[in-house]
Amino acid sequence: MAATSFVAASLLRRAALGFALSHPLKNNKLSYQSNLISFPLTPRLTSSGLCHLAQAVKGDVADLLKDVGDKTVFEEVKRTLEMARRASSRREVLHTNFLTPPVMKESMLALTKLADLKAVSQGGYPQAERCRISVGHPDVLTSDPDIIAALSITGNFGFQPCSHGDFLGAILGTGIAREKVGDVILQGEKGAQVIIVPELIDFLMTSLDKVGNVPVSLTKIPLISIDYEPPSTKSFRTIEASARIDAIASAGFKISRSKLVDLIRNGDVRLNWTPVTKNGATLKTGDIVSVRGKGRLKIGEINTTRKGKFAIELIRYL
Ligand SMILES: *[C@@H]1O[C@H](CO)[C@@H](O)[C@H](O)[C@H]1NC(C)=O
Repeated sequence: MAATSFVAASLLRRAALGFALSHPLKNNKLSYQSNLISFPLTPRLTSSGLCHLAQAVKGDVADLLKDVGDKTVFEEVKRTLEMARRASSRREVLHTNFLTPPVMKESMLALTKLADLKAVSQGGYPQAERCRISVGHPDVLTSDPDIIAALSITGNFGFQPCSHGDFLGAILGTGIAREKVGDVILQGEKGAQVIIVPELIDFLMTSLDKVGNVPVSLTKIPLISIDYEPPSTKSFRTIEASARIDAIASAGFKISRSKLVDLIRNGDVRLNWTPVTKNGATLKTGDIVSVRGKGRLKIGEINTTRKGKFAIELIRYL
């Protein structure tokens, strides 16, 4: 029974994969994040009749980024916005390399504020962490660009298990830059699957012959064959007097409030991948809290009770 439902879920997941990248699914079984944002064509016309996103973006970049606290994230998001400006003024579709989750989140957020621009993010499978963003005018960005490829790395890892870091280290050891590589998905004794930019497939296939001490062989695989485990989650409800991060995260991870405050002080707590520096942050639906060594927590629905408390749905990634 369990096996059957697993197969069914996996078929569903694969069937969904084909369109999951462009169609937000709100079903709880297939709760993929929406990976597509698109904006109505607002008539931002100049006297010549041309759409001027370039003008709209120029000078506003600093404004769009005023909430991005982290310096490196800020620089990378800025680069994405500048790319969007170029894409729009040349009426082309341009793509980023693979972005980290915080950069990707802030970039998509900032891009939604721009008129006449469509942005698509893809990482090869619905829950991909590292994604590439493509931007362009909605007239030219009409389908998901073909800018993601996948390889299967196989070898006999039964006696020498290799970690995520071992695979990544071996790939980067060939000279490939980190931002050209997406997620690495471990496949137990068989090896791993790696997401990469298409133009480096041949190079990696000829350059990588070992991971750790294990000889490997590489094959290109279609994205539909990417075999990831949908994360195992547990959701529950809690009622708290405040929606502050210390209150909610201590309930979610079942640790004391004071321990959580210590973890924050040590820099071990992240909110939407950005380290939390002070305790007062208030959480909202969709926020992701991660605590080093304890995993992740997603904030679901928040209701206020008649007594002015917060009833919060928490989804714990195990
Ligand atoms: C919030 O309220 C709705 C409607 O009453 C209810 O269905 C839902 O379960 C509540 N969620 C939480 C987390 O209490």
